[in-house]
Amino acid sequence: MPTRQIYNLKSKKSIISGGASGIGRAICETFGSLGADVAIFDVKPEEAQKTAEGVKVHGVNALSLLVDITDEAKVKKGVETVLEKFGKVDILVNNAGWDRIVPFMETDLNFWEKIIKINYLGPVICTKAVLEVMINRGGGRIINISSDAGRVGSSGEAVYSGTKGGIIAFTKSIARETARYGITVNCISPGPTKTPLLDDMMKEERGKKILEAIERSIPLRRFAQPEDIAYAVAFFAMDGSRYITGQVLSVSGGLSMSG
Ligand SMILES: NC(=O)c1ccc[n+]([C@@H]2O[C@H](COP(=O)([O-])OP(=O)(O)OC[C@H]3O[C@@H](n4cnc5c(N)ncnc54)[C@H](O)[C@@H]3O)[C@@H](O)[C@H]2O)c1
Repeated sequence: MPTRQIYNLKSKKSIISGGASGIGRAICETFGSLGADVAIFDVKPEEAQKTAEGVKVHGVNALSLLVDITDEAKVKKGVETVLEKFGKVDILVNNAGWDRIVPFMETDLNFWEKIIKINYLGPVICTKAVLEVMINRGGGRIINISSDAGRVGSSGEAVYSGTKGGIIAFTKSIARETARYGITVNCISPGPTKTPLLDDMMKEERGKKILEAIERSIPLRRFAQPEDIAYAVAFFAMDGSRYITGQVLSVSGGLSMSG
């Protein structure tokens, strides 16, 4: 296959959760620029609409859908709408997430439930809904956004780190179960990335101190920009990565390296 056909997303139909902001918005824009139609699942409709407008500039279709990924009925309805509008789903990016930096002993059940629902249960729900379509078609790409917190741990993010480690194990297990249908499932594991989520965490003195110390120890000497993460996600979505499944790629400026 010529390189120009492998390294683009022309005529691919994608669903991206959390596309209203940060990394999700950059993924939507990158996918659009590479030729993919993009459907956004998010709980911030106005911001998601802004992303959709930015994606359409590339001459592709973009849909903004009000879908809370923790609500199975809403996710199923969202996938049905994408099928009606786009005809198929080739790619799912489980990107939506939420976190705050708080020492574990100061957190409680309400906080844990919120973190687990958005960061773990949401991707599980979206994966099931989309796999029903992908298995019937015999192909597809799922890319999960984990975090280096899930690979190496992170102070003040104990339960979040647990969900992100869980997403890595979930990725590998689903990759094993669905390879026979021509579906690949991989993980991108960002390090700290300049997004509204990171800005919110830096508003608190404790979070600011931890993150500033982390930034100083990044070999490439800066936090990631959202598009740094998006380019890696796009690679896992392209035909050129068809023989890669169950893998985790850290995009962290070298902050964490494993042999
Ligand atoms: N920013 C970082 O430093 C960093 C580092 C590692 C991993 N990550 C991961 O990257 C992903 C994106 O983070 P970001 O920094 O762009 O965050 P962000 O807050 O800028 O964007 C997250 C988006 O997810 C949406 N969202 C939240 N809950 C939702 C729900 N229940 N249903 C649908 N949409 C929902 C939000 O509305 C928002 O648009 C997350 O999974 C996050 O854990 C971020």
